[in-house]
Amino acid sequence: MSIANNNILLGITGGIAAYKTPDLVRKLKAQGANVRVVTTSSAAEFVSPLALQAVSGNPVSSDLLDKDAEAAMGHIELAKWADILLIAPTTANFMAKLALGLADDLLSTLCLATTAPIFIAPAMNQQMWRAAATQHNLHTLLSRQITVLGPAAGEQACGDVGLGRMLEPQEIVELLHNKCESPRPLLHGKKVVLTAGPTREEIDPVRYITNHSSGKMGYALAAAAQQLGAKVCLVSGPTQLTAPQGVELINVQSADQMHQAVMANMAHCDIFVACAAVADYRPINKTPQKIKKKENELTLTFVKNPDILSDVAHLPHPPFTVGFAAETQNVRDYALAKLHAKKLNMIAANDVSDSKIGFNSEQNALNVFWSEGEKVLPVTDKHTLARQLMTLVAEQLTE
Ligand code: C5P
Repeated sequence: MSIANNNILLGITGGIAAYKTPDLVRKLKAQGANVRVVTTSSAAEFVSPLALQAVSGNPVSSDLLDKDAEAAMGHIELAKWADILLIAPTTANFMAKLALGLADDLLSTLCLATTAPIFIAPAMNQQMWRAAATQHNLHTLLSRQITVLGPAAGEQACGDVGLGRMLEPQEIVELLHNKCESPRPLLHGKKVVLTAGPTREEIDPVRYITNHSSGKMGYALAAAAQQLGAKVCLVSGPTQLTAPQGVELINVQSADQMHQAVMANMAHCDIFVACAAVADYRPINKTPQKIKKKENELTLTFVKNPDILSDVAHLPHPPFTVGFAAETQNVRDYALAKLHAKKLNMIAANDVSDSKIGFNSEQNALNVFWSEGEKVLPVTDKHTLARQLMTLVAEQLTE
């Protein structure tokens, strides 16, 4: 598919970035696309429908119950006409509507009625982008194969600085062009196995030891790998998260169970990403009865858990193996030492001493090392970071 000669339905929702959309339409048309525009009612406050009609050369629709528009091209017809549905800018509110599957105006109805691939270019205040609800909706949309373009970081209309600016029209057109032109997604036909979340090591029938891992990074990586065309198997310790649709989820509790599940899925595995925070040790024997409160001191004896990542990397025909290193100091040295000691292809290190990123937070930053290079992936939300890391993996895999 290419942009040229394709029918692009451009949805515009009500954000300040909507003022850039006449330029976006012009640039899409310059690539040879046929463009029709649908606005939400609030978008018309930011950009003139007349200007959009003039640049697109087609009438602009916004109302689901507009008799004249329906007579000219009904909403189902419009949904079928589209080869690509691009929504730019996409507000936080519209992302929420899309995630819920609401159909309470023309644009949201079209999103349900079309079989065309949907691309969104979010634009909102940085805090609204970071809000847990928006991030949850983002996760849902990514899991439904909706492609998210941006957002970019920088100064915002409200004076804040951060992630949430709509990409510039030229960048949107280029990304759309690349997505349409690329014959296959980067990980097409690859099998990716990931571990995520904490493990839970039982002490007695009512107690266990675990850690603060939320699983967010691992689940974001699973979604990113799937978006890049891979078949994904996610082996997860206990988390509060929902696996992306289409991802095979294997729930486990302990490191031993995680080890078994991973090894059972190594056949034809191309990439293994160990993102789980696996307990290094487990109580040597789980006591069959609840341990009673008696002495002032209690001693438990622990035994080392299997190192899943190292075991995978030492298989006779290992997949491309990616590990994580959570360090509080000398991040680079420890990460490189681990890369070599565990025979990994790549390691992604984060500084867990920084409380704003890493464990349980929405954001993270990574220093990625492989034998021929290294790259810093600066602080951003975990979904963006996951896409960057999986793209890096795919690039190294094909080299
Ligand atoms: O050696 P360390 O625990 O710091 O290594 C962290 C990396 O190893 C992570 O990728 C983690 O998922 C993986 N790991 C594992 N099995 C273990 C311990 C760690 O797969 N038992």
